[in-house]
Amino acid sequence: MLSPYHRYKSTLPFLITRHRFRMDIAIQSSPEKINVLAHQQYHSLDHLSPSNLPTNPLDLFRQWFTSVQGIVHEPEAMALSTASADGIPSTRIVLLKQADNHGFVFFTNYNSRKSREMQANPHASLAFYWREDHRQVRVVGPVEKVSREESEAYFQTRPLGSKIGAWASNQSAAIAEGELDHQINQIKKKFGVKEGDVDADIPLPDHWGGWRVIPNEVEFWAGKPSRLHDRVCYRRWDGPTNSEWRIERLAP
Ligand SMILES: Cc1cc2nc3c(=O)[nH]c(=O)nc-3n(C[C@H](O)[C@H](O)[C@H](O)COP(=O)(O)O)c2cc1C
Repeated sequence: MLSPYHRYKSTLPFLITRHRFRMDIAIQSSPEKINVLAHQQYHSLDHLSPSNLPTNPLDLFRQWFTSVQGIVHEPEAMALSTASADGIPSTRIVLLKQADNHGFVFFTNYNSRKSREMQANPHASLAFYWREDHRQVRVVGPVEKVSREESEAYFQTRPLGSKIGAWASNQSAAIAEGELDHQINQIKKKFGVKEGDVDADIPLPDHWGGWRVIPNEVEFWAGKPSRLHDRVCYRRWDGPTNSEWRIERLAP
């Protein structure tokens, strides 16, 4: 089903789409500098208001995430920001694998830079950008490792190559040229994987599993012309109502 934005866009002349595309890529590049000249306009048809939103941010996340399926390529890709113990941030993309009332789950190597940072400073921020629907979602909160059982269940759904990769790659460490191939061959030997095998009995490595970001804050952003975007933020609170979330509009 088309989203409200795509229904609206399909009514516009093709020329506008082409024009908008050309504006997207207008850059001025010199050996010293890259200037981005374009000013993309955003035209979300959302009208976010604290009074007309679900009381639980997961319900709105589910609505948005469902509506971008088939429109946004890899809508589950999200920027994950972590920070070292002394507060130095770093960001990378990971894939959302599960979202529920407990939090947002992704999987990775527990010795990687991101995992080491989350062990030292157990907080993270996630950001989704769904360009085609002019939407952004930010999730902020403490993190925890998911249970061994959850990691095991997910690991066993992965294709063989990804299972071998999880064993072979010392993610985020500096490696020599060819070292990864060598490690992959070693792991194949260790688990008796032959050329052409599509599956093998490969256990979950101790150094691999899921992290859950437990949201204290979930912000929804809908892009509007002239940068006058709609923003609403759900913050967890212990107020005397039947909702554990306070919803506020934020200035764009
Ligand atoms: C679209 C996309 C999806 C990715 N998904 C994951 C993922 O789910 N888990 C993961 O560990 N790395 C994933 N990566 C690789 C990470 O961005 C990153 O390079 C890697 O996790 C090492 O990060 P770190 O050194 O900061 O720990 C993905 C990269 C891209 C571009």
